Amino acid sequence: MSTSPVKVAVTGAAGQIGYSLLFRLASGALLGPDTPVQLRLLEITPALKALEGVVMELDDCAFPTLDSVEIGDDPNHIFDGVNLALLVGARPRTKGMERGDLLSANGAIFTGQGKALNDHAADDVRIGVTGNPANTNALIAMSNAPDIPRERFSALTRLDHNRAMSQLATKTGSKVTDIKKLTIWGNHSATQYPDIFHAEIGGQNAAEVVGDQGWIADTFIPTVAQRGAAIIEARGASSAASAASATIDAARTWLTGTPEGDWASMAVCSDGSYDIPEGLIYSFPVTTSNGEWQIVQGLEIDEFSRGKMDATAQELIEERDAVKELGLI
Ligand code: NAD
Ligand code: LMR
Repeated sequence: MSTSPVKVAVTGAAGQIGYSLLFRLASGALLGPDTPVQLRLLEITPALKALEGVVMELDDCAFPTLDSVEIGDDPNHIFDGVNLALLVGARPRTKGMERGDLLSANGAIFTGQGKALNDHAADDVRIGVTGNPANTNALIAMSNAPDIPRERFSALTRLDHNRAMSQLATKTGSKVTDIKKLTIWGNHSATQYPDIFHAEIGGQNAAEVVGDQGWIADTFIPTVAQRGAAIIEARGASSAASAASATIDAARTWLTGTPEGDWASMAVCSDGSYDIPEGLIYSFPVTTSNGEWQIVQGLEIDEFSRGKMDATAQELIEERDAVKELGLI
C-alpha cells in the first residue's frame, strides 16, 4: 500500500552528484517502493537547460515511485513544503585545494538557502548538507534559519564512514556487514578522525582484530581522510556516485533509524558532548529513530583519540570564525 508522497529538494541538481542522486531518489532508494517521491530541483539559472535534459531522462526511466518533478532557480519556490532538503549545490574543489578553501566561494549560497528553508520548508523538514565545506555550510544554513530546530541540520560524513568501513573490511578480510560502531569524528576534511577503537568486527574489537597500531595511525586514518583528494587525483573530478550514495544512506538512516547494535556517523550541532564546543557542526557517533538523532554517550576516549578529536574541532572553530568574519553567520 502506498504512503503519502515525500517532498525532497535537491540543490545543484544538474551537477555531477545530482546526476547520480536524482535517479536513486526517484527509484525509491530512500524510502522504498511504497513511498512516492516528489522531486524539487534547484539550480542556478544558466544550468536550468541542462537540468531540463536530466528531467527528460528521469521521465524516460518511468520510475513507479516518482510522483512529480519541479525545477527552478528560486529557492523560495523550490523549498516550499519540502520534508527533506539535500543541499549539494556548491563548487567542488580541484587538485591542490583543501575543502576549506571553498569557504568564501560557497558559504554565501547557504545564507540564502537557509533563509528560504526557514520561511518555506515543511514543519518536519530535515536538511542534509553535502556541498563543501559541508560542516561549515551546514552551520551557515542553520544560523540563517532561526525558526528551524538546530537538530534538523546535518552535514555529510557518511561518505567518510563508508570509506572507513571499506578500508577496514579489506584489511581484515571481513565483510562490511560484519563491521559495526565505527565513528568519524569532526570535520569532513583531512583533519577528520576515523575511529575504530570502539568498532567491532564480528563482535570483536576492531582495533584488536587489526592488531597493528602503526597501520591504524599511518595508513588507515590518512587513507580515509585523504580519499577525496585521491579520487580527484585519479578521476580529475571529485567523487560523485559514492557521494550520492552516501547522501542517500545518511538521509535514510536519519529518517528510518539505525539498526540495533550499531550506530552511524553524522555531523550535527554539538551539545558539548565529548567536550566538543557547543554549536559546532561536528561529526559524532549517533543512533537515530523516528527521524531524531542522539549522540552515543559514554565512550572512553584515550589520549590518541582526544588529540585527534580536538584537532578537527579546532579546524571547525577556525572555519566558524572565518565565516563570522565574512558576515555569513
Ligand atoms: P558540480 O560542480 O558537478 O555540481 C554543482 C552544481 O551546483 C552545479 O550544477 C552548479 O550549477 C550548482 N550550483 C551552484 N550554485 C548553486 C546555487 N546557489 N543553487 C543551486 N545550485 C547551485 O559539483 P558536484 O561534483 O556535484 O559536487 C557538489 C558539491 O558536493 C561540491 O561542493 C563538492 O565538493 C561536494 N562534495 C561533498 C562530499 C561530501 O562527502 N560531503 C562528497 C563529494 C562532493
Ligand atoms: C570527497 O570527500 O570526495 C568530497 O568532499 C570531495 C573533495 O573535495 O574531497
